[in-house]
Formats: sequence, C-alpha cells, structure tokens
Amino acid sequence: KKVIFSGMQPSGSLTLGNYLGALKNWVRLQSEYDCYYCVVDMHAITVPKEPKDLRKNTLEVLANYIAAGLDPEQVTLFIQSHVSAHAELGWLLNCFSYYGELGRMTQFKDKSKKQDSNAITAGLFTYPVLMAADILLYQADLVPVGEDQRQHLEITRDIAQRFNNRFSETFKVPDPFISKDGAKIMSLQEPESKMSKSDSNDNSYILLMDGADAIRRKFKRAVTDSEGVIRFSDAQPGVKNLINIHSKITDKTPAEIVAEYEGKGYAQFKDDVAEIVVDELKPIQEKIDYLLKNKDYLEKIYIHGAEKAEAVARKTLRKAYKKVGFIPRF
Ligand code: TYM
Repeated sequence: KKVIFSGMQPSGSLTLGNYLGALKNWVRLQSEYDCYYCVVDMHAITVPKEPKDLRKNTLEVLANYIAAGLDPEQVTLFIQSHVSAHAELGWLLNCFSYYGELGRMTQFKDKSKKQDSNAITAGLFTYPVLMAADILLYQADLVPVGEDQRQHLEITRDIAQRFNNRFSETFKVPDPFISKDGAKIMSLQEPESKMSKSDSNDNSYILLMDGADAIRRKFKRAVTDSEGVIRFSDAQPGVKNLINIHSKITDKTPAEIVAEYEGKGYAQFKDDVAEIVVDELKPIQEKIDYLLKNKDYLEKIYIHGAEKAEAVARKTLRKAYKKVGFIPRF
C-alpha cells in the first residue's frame, strides 16, 4: 500500500477550508492507502499560544478528524509531540536546509509580517523543515493538502533530494495531492484571499463548530458582485467560491450547479449553500460533542497511534542518523 501523511495545526477550531481543502479528502483516501494523520502541536507553538488553549485545541482537532469520518482502526492518528523522532529529524534536516530558501517561503513572509519583528521566532522560520521531517519519517508517497501548502511540499522534496544526493537513497520523495478545484476555499468577506481562522473578521470564515444560525448568517453576508448571474468565473470570485463549496460537498460539478441556478438570484443561492453546509456539518458536530465528552476514548486512540507511528518513524530516523555519521548506540 502507498503511504499518506498529512497534518493540521491545533491553532484554533478548524474551518470549512480545512475540512473541504484537506480533511474530506483524507477520509476518501483512508481505505486505499496506509495513512498517518497527525495533529501538529509542535508547529502550533511557532506563534504564541496559551497552554490551556493548545491542550484544548489539540484534542478538538483529533475529535474533528474522527468525527469527519477517519476510522482510527484503519488509519494512524497521533499527536506530533508524542513521537520525538519528529523533533530529532527536524534538527538534522535543519542542517541541510538553507537560510535563503526558507526566507523565500510565502507563508513565513505573510506570518512574519503580522508579528512584531522582535517576536518572530526561529521556529516560525524553520517551520517548513519540521514539516519536511513529518512527511519524510513515514516515507510518504502522497501528501493531501490544500493549495496553500504547495510551496512547503516543494521544499520538502528539495530537502529530501538534497539529502539523498549527498548520501544515498534515504527518503522517499513525496508528491503533493491537491485537488483541482476547491483546494482553496476563500474568505466569505474578501474572496481574493483564503479562508483562514486567523482572519480578524469572523464573518469571513465558517468554523466546523459553528451553529446553524451562525452559518446561515455568514452565508447571507457573503460578498458577491454586481453581475447578478451565477457563473463559475475568476471575474466573480465570491460566487465562484460558493460554487466550489457547493461542489465539494454535493459532488456536483460546477457546470451542473451553474445550470441548476440559471435565472436564479444570489440570495437564493447563498441560502441553499448555507443549508448544504449546515446539513453536512450537523452530524459531524454531534459526533465532536460526543467525542469531547469521552476523553478516555480519545486518549486510547492517540496513545495507540503514537506507538504505531513511533515504530515507523524510528526506522527512518536511525537510517538518516547513520548516513550523516552519528554512532548508533544500540
Ligand atoms: P494548516 O493547519 O494551516 O491547515 C490544515 C490543512 O487545511 C488546508 N487549508 C485549506 N484548504 C483549502 N482552503 C483553505 N482556505 C484552507 N485553509 C487551510 C491546508 O492546506 C492544510 O492541508 N503546515 C501545515 C500543517 C502540517 C502538515 C505537515 C501538512 C505540518 N506538517 C505535514 C502536511 C504534511 C499547516 O499549517 O496546515
């Protein structure tokens, strides 16, 4: 079986963007591949975090994974900080990554612009190296992510190839797995930028935990345009985004949706998309509530997951340590 690795940061509740851009695809892939899905808490502390929020969000993300349909019997679910090989390979790969290439990462540039320059941590700068370690430890073939992670996947490939060329074949060079449309769910308020939970305007994003009323209200306020015609076009980014959301959930093609709404107005369309989202999220939300009341069950899953992940990760780490000339202790 081919191997899949992916992860999400517990930096707050997940958004509809995380769900449609990544999580929903993870669920589809789970029976065909050997999947490792991680909650990347070590990545989350690259920007300031309250410990109690981090603890809460980490469990919440794990609950979201399961509630969205990942089967803990079938896939390996774990928390990044539980498998120390991530930090260890991360350090090693830091020594094979360049200041220049890390400085060119657009996510770093964006995130560091938002911070006081004295508060930009070294961790934020080397963030993509830890991400490379996550992926390479499992010799992953495919990494299902949203469009915004493409550049991080490219640097992961570069680092893997560089290491393999310097020593010998050590890491599988992974391919990104990014769906064609809907891999970038846009802000409901500024449809030119991606939907993100760090947006200061909470009308711009839908959280997986948003109640039906909040979802309806946010879609009603979604920014569209003055064309008045429902078309799947870059000239109408707001409408295009709504079509994408519809399409990702209903599996209808954008063309089918456009045909269905011929001659109809935006208000009706927005209300319909809101209902589709409400219906999609309702069973997930009920399951999340249930899981968060069953912390013992979640604990069993992440402990078991870490054991499985650890065994695989250790093998790769050992191999990489040997290649660079570290003396094995066992
Ligand atoms: P993160 O936590 O920002 O996002 C998790 C996943 O959700 C996708 N995503 C979106 N997709 C479509 N539209 C959006 N608006 C949207 N917002 C987020 C992201 O592309 C991602 O797939 N660096 C990663 C976490 C990470 C990781 C890894 C991923 C750490 N190690 C190893 C894959 C493999 C991140 O910050 O994702």
